[in-house]
Amino acid sequence: MKIISVVGARPNFMKIAPIHRAIQNYNIQYPASTIHHQVCHTGQHYDEKMSKIFFKDLGLPQPDFYLGVGSGSHTEQTAKIMLEFEKVLLKEKPDLVIVVGDVNSTVACSLVASKLNIKIAHVEAGLRSCDRTMPEEINRILTDSISDFLFVTEKSGIENLIKEGIPPEKIFFVGNVMIDNLIQNVPKSSNSEIFSNLGLMKGKLVHPYVLITLHRPSNVDSKEYMERFFDMLRRLSENRKIIFPLHPRTKKNLDANGLLENLNEQIILTDPIGYIDFLALTKNAELIITDSGGIQEESTYLGIQCITVRNNTERPITVEVGTNQLIGTDLMKVEQAALHVINGKIKSGRIPELWDGKTSERIIDILVGKAQFVELEQEKLISNN
Ligand code: UD1
Repeated sequence: MKIISVVGARPNFMKIAPIHRAIQNYNIQYPASTIHHQVCHTGQHYDEKMSKIFFKDLGLPQPDFYLGVGSGSHTEQTAKIMLEFEKVLLKEKPDLVIVVGDVNSTVACSLVASKLNIKIAHVEAGLRSCDRTMPEEINRILTDSISDFLFVTEKSGIENLIKEGIPPEKIFFVGNVMIDNLIQNVPKSSNSEIFSNLGLMKGKLVHPYVLITLHRPSNVDSKEYMERFFDMLRRLSENRKIIFPLHPRTKKNLDANGLLENLNEQIILTDPIGYIDFLALTKNAELIITDSGGIQEESTYLGIQCITVRNNTERPITVEVGTNQLIGTDLMKVEQAALHVINGKIKSGRIPELWDGKTSERIIDILVGKAQFVELEQEKLISNN
């Protein structure tokens, strides 16, 4: 069996790494029927700190194909990926393409595979924010509609896909590959030097801090909103240190609007941070304020308080059972919720079903037709619908 996995943007690398490991393990276990696995990097993210560092941190092999598409409008980026990926598929003729998440590379590569009648597995299928102004929502809906294997992280995903008319026999509730990766790397993160590098050590202890990440265009493209966001950070920094690694989009906008000047030393802005160091920062944060998708899940797994600065989430399980609070974009409410946490009023949570570190193994078992437990789950799913 020949598989090509696609990575493009930062949140993809940590999802393909555990799948690659599961394939390697499968090949050791079943040498007579090995899977030939290749990785294609579209180059959607290309900065050292948005891409290369993750290959090193996650032990991913160098990509077999690098499409080098870079930035551009969504249409331009998607079209360039399609043109280049078609050449790869025509030459390699894989049996299956694996795509993850919801970025432009996900939809572009699925569409090419579908036009060439190559089977598609979508990992992290079925998530819906129900907000079609988000480019990622369009990418999710389109990718799911043409995929052959839809691997779901939480039960809301099954319901969404059934509502959209996806045949139940294509849907597999397997858990979360990103959590496989997190579990594998937590021990390594204990040796991170990020705390001393950022001046966060108080003797042998880490100074309490709030970790911030913000990159959604709907938040960071508005000068007025970011001004008010920094006013909030200044007030929060009276009580806590603030660590804010800047996504390139965020940095560009803050720079252009002169918002990076006159910050106090309690607010520490950094370049994007590698996987292991960021995991260390997540694990030890008192609170995270974010608009990311993946960080809502990682904080839920680690039991860390998380405030999501968005009006919707495609990952409702993190709010239903996890430590995530979906506060919306009203900064008065965000500040109030942050102060509650800092003053000790925390939300308790538990780990969602099947987020157990074995998701990639389940996926490979299904792809090679060796999954007995899944057949039972599938029978239930099909008979319930
Ligand atoms: C993309 C994904 C988003 C994901 C995010 C994680 C889509 C539609 N969006 O958004 O779902 O949460 O990645 O980071 O695919 N840039 C650099 N260096 C890089 C990469 C980007 O400077 O290595 C700049 C680009 O020039 C552009 C901006 O950052 O100005 C945004 O990059 P882009 O890949 O278009 O989208 P993201 O906002 O990163």
